[in-house]
Amino acid sequence: MDPSSGYWFRAPTPDDLASVAEVLIEDQRADGVEPVLDAHFMRQVWSRSNFDLAADAWVATDGSTMIVAYGQVRQEEPDIVGSWGVVHPQHRGRGIGSSLFDRIEGRATELLAGVASPRFRHSVNGQDVAAEAMARVRGLRPIRHYWHMQIDLPEPIAPGTAPGGVEIGRVEPRRDLRSVHGILEESFAQDRGDHPGPFDRWAEEEARSPTYDPTLWLLARDSGMAIGALTASAGDGGGWVDWLGVLASHRGRGIGAALLRRSFGMFSARGVRRAMVNVDAENATGATAVYERVGMRVVNRWDLWERSS
Ligand SMILES: CC(C)(COP(=O)(O)OP(=O)(O)OC[C@H]1O[C@@H](n2cnc3c(N)ncnc32)[C@H](O)[C@@H]1OP(=O)(O)O)[C@@H](O)C(=O)NCCC(=O)NCCS
Repeated sequence: MDPSSGYWFRAPTPDDLASVAEVLIEDQRADGVEPVLDAHFMRQVWSRSNFDLAADAWVATDGSTMIVAYGQVRQEEPDIVGSWGVVHPQHRGRGIGSSLFDRIEGRATELLAGVASPRFRHSVNGQDVAAEAMARVRGLRPIRHYWHMQIDLPEPIAPGTAPGGVEIGRVEPRRDLRSVHGILEESFAQDRGDHPGPFDRWAEEEARSPTYDPTLWLLARDSGMAIGALTASAGDGGGWVDWLGVLASHRGRGIGAALLRRSFGMFSARGVRRAMVNVDAENATGATAVYERVGMRVVNRWDLWERSS
């Protein structure tokens, strides 16, 4: 128990996933945001490599053992630890966020021990003024904004056509995984955010994820050569475009937009009623505009804060 707050902190177990997702959903609702992060997102997060539920995450419970808050850290790169946390709206303002942040910082310090130029990052819901203030007081500064974008898919939609000469088709994992990975690696080479990383690690992480569903993935080919890829997954709350990349040599021809439209068509054919994506607001290749052009709209902003030393 944390004597100052009257709440108990412990490591989550896999059985807590739905309760943690519920706190996350309530957090988004309280901020006036259409919830997009739910159990599907939590399943992805908890299946990532370099993440140990017993050491890298905490839940806070009240006297009735109901989960009222969650926080986590993850070593994203040898010199970068990323973190985030949420407190149920009815339990805000009682010191839980600070207690969580203490644990998050403590674990981050352990993970970054001995690193020459460590970077500690924390993601904050763009509407959450209290979390923002807490990050600022602890010496973090905002470095990046991310949009959650969404399109409603009320009824089956036509998949659209691909630009001349380009074929868009499904992925056969045994044959195509290396092509998908190669395109994403090259497409994101200049990106300042996440990268797929080495093939073996990426393929293992994808296959291990409970949300892995390559029947929703797409490859674009020009004269037989793979030049664009989209990976996606679907949960109860909707579908996610997880990665989208087009080789630099083939950009600006409408291939990215065509991959997205085809993906929306596949989602809607399965009865998935909305599709979402998480995008760096200042994506250097103009991805936000591509998403807007195919009908997606911004539903929320997440801010990435950082303290480097
Ligand atoms: C984002 C990305 C996937 C877009 O792929 P793309 O194939 O170039 O996308 P499109 O061709 O559909 O649209 C891109 C531009 O081409 C233009 N375009 C679209 N169709 C066109 C056509 N038929 N002829 C000429 N130009 C066209 C669009 O106007 C758009 O320009 P604008 O956004 O500046 O107005 C690609 O730039 C990429 O791989 N980026 C790196 C990875 C990345 O950031 N992915 C998204 C992360 S969330």
